Amino acid sequence: MDLPFHVASHLDSALRAAASQLGWADRGFQPEVRVADPAHGDFQANGALAFAKREKQNPRAVAQQMVDALDASVKDQFDLSLAGPGFINFRLKPAALLGWITRHDSEPHLREAAAGERRGQTWVVDYSSPNTAKQMHVGHLRSAVIGEALCRLLTFNGATVIRDNHLGDWGTQFGKLIYAYKRWVDEAALAADAIEELERLYKLGTAATPDDSPALDEARAELVKLQNGDPENVALWKKFSDVSLAAFQQIYDRLGIRFDHNLGESFYNDKLTRVYAELSDTGIAQESEGALVVFHPEHPRFKTQPFLIRKADGASNYGSTDLATAVYRAEHFKADGIVIVTDFRQADHFEQLFLTVRKWFAAKSYRTPELHHVTFGAVTGEDGKALKTRSGDVIRLKLLLDEAEERAYALVAAKNAERPEPERMSDGECRDIARAVGIGAVQYADLAQNRSSNYVFSWDKMLALDGNTAPYLLYAVARVRSIFRKAGLDPAQPPVAGATAPETPQELALARKLVQFADAVQVATDQLRPHFLCLYLFELAGAYSGFYAADKVIVDDPSVRARRLLLCHRTLVTLETGLHLLGLRTLERM
Ligand code: ARG
Repeated sequence: MDLPFHVASHLDSALRAAASQLGWADRGFQPEVRVADPAHGDFQANGALAFAKREKQNPRAVAQQMVDALDASVKDQFDLSLAGPGFINFRLKPAALLGWITRHDSEPHLREAAAGERRGQTWVVDYSSPNTAKQMHVGHLRSAVIGEALCRLLTFNGATVIRDNHLGDWGTQFGKLIYAYKRWVDEAALAADAIEELERLYKLGTAATPDDSPALDEARAELVKLQNGDPENVALWKKFSDVSLAAFQQIYDRLGIRFDHNLGESFYNDKLTRVYAELSDTGIAQESEGALVVFHPEHPRFKTQPFLIRKADGASNYGSTDLATAVYRAEHFKADGIVIVTDFRQADHFEQLFLTVRKWFAAKSYRTPELHHVTFGAVTGEDGKALKTRSGDVIRLKLLLDEAEERAYALVAAKNAERPEPERMSDGECRDIARAVGIGAVQYADLAQNRSSNYVFSWDKMLALDGNTAPYLLYAVARVRSIFRKAGLDPAQPPVAGATAPETPQELALARKLVQFADAVQVATDQLRPHFLCLYLFELAGAYSGFYAADKVIVDDPSVRARRLLLCHRTLVTLETGLHLLGLRTLERM
């Protein structure tokens, strides 16, 4: 039997089959397969330990019985050994490595093979989701970058992913903005840079309408008109949304993001009465001082800290729209899973929301999707403080991306100047490469750190040509490609027929790393944490460097040459597939 894409889950099934043969499955035997320390093997199964302890047996004897009961095919594919108090180590045999690597030969084939538990499922990913009439600033980077990587990982796992940009396009601020617009709009500025002008008006409007001022009453009147469908105000509001989306799209284009829907808060306006009615009827929500709130008696904090779902004046809020959003996604998109990507400060909101949704859906017998709030830390400078411009303003995302491209261009151009004349690239090529490297560096630096931590922003670190960075990995890709180019070979059709199984320590180490791609993707997807994939790609590039330094690729012996070209090619495919999963654009040359 061929070794399937996901070796760890293949071992898991084999161990479970052996356990049921031994009559241990009903007694709760769990295989506990993990990637092993390379000194011991490729994978290890630790389950014998816990099981033996519970059954009051000798763990080593349990592990040995397990090994004896394993299907013969497993013994064909792996060298097995027992270690310590009862770990089973599995080391892939070179022939099995060769088989796996030969079969997984392209990005489309990896995609086919990787489709797993989420095949046939629909996942809605709510990310980026900025507020309209304002520019995107550096704080908006993480949700967009992490969200896009998660969309790609879920798709890779077989899900149909719906990218939903849940714009903040409703609320009291629009009264103030309309108020300011009607008085002070500068048409020329609006034509030149609409969102800039809206932001200026928004600030003016806020400043001009302090609490208890008559101006504030006027702004509120504009809001009421908008809410009641006044054509002029509705048209203005629509214009604000359109202009904002067009500006956001420029950023999304640079980050390789395309939303399927931009269903902002306003979309749920007419879907709120049902939320109030159902939550009241089921007794989940209650009136409190005129407002509608939900308490969660089983929760230490939320038993007293209410989840507000309708304000005392009858107005909706963030809670109301998010409840309507949840039911819409469950019913209209038939979502099996919902992922919402925002910073950690919204943790309480989503915890209360999800608790409420679960009770509500259970009470009404609606199917409840998996609900995930994916949080991330702040973007800070190397001093640990919030990232600001020198004058202390927030950094506009547009300008940040411009700077990334400029800095990358300086690197690329300098490297290019060192090349001998015939190999030199045109300035246009350098610019294009700089775009991929600069934007990729910003994306990758965000993804490579555990998202729960702050994103410590450092131009020097993210643009470094060594270390766990985009330039390093993009360069690794370009380097593998250059082997093919220099040998006059087409990497789309690598001459790898007759390749023999890996032999040298570096060939073996690289081949083993390639097979672990499946595990890295799996962990990153299950935990919704892309940094696991980043770390893997960094290690893969390292294994490739070790191989390349030790083993000459273009040698005379045809079978050695074929197997080394095979390893080069599969490294290329895996690095590119991995980087694409993270949302990066890969390059032919760098
Ligand atoms: N617009 C919100 C903000 O800027 C994020 C929305 C996230 N999604 C949601 N369904 N609440 O903070």
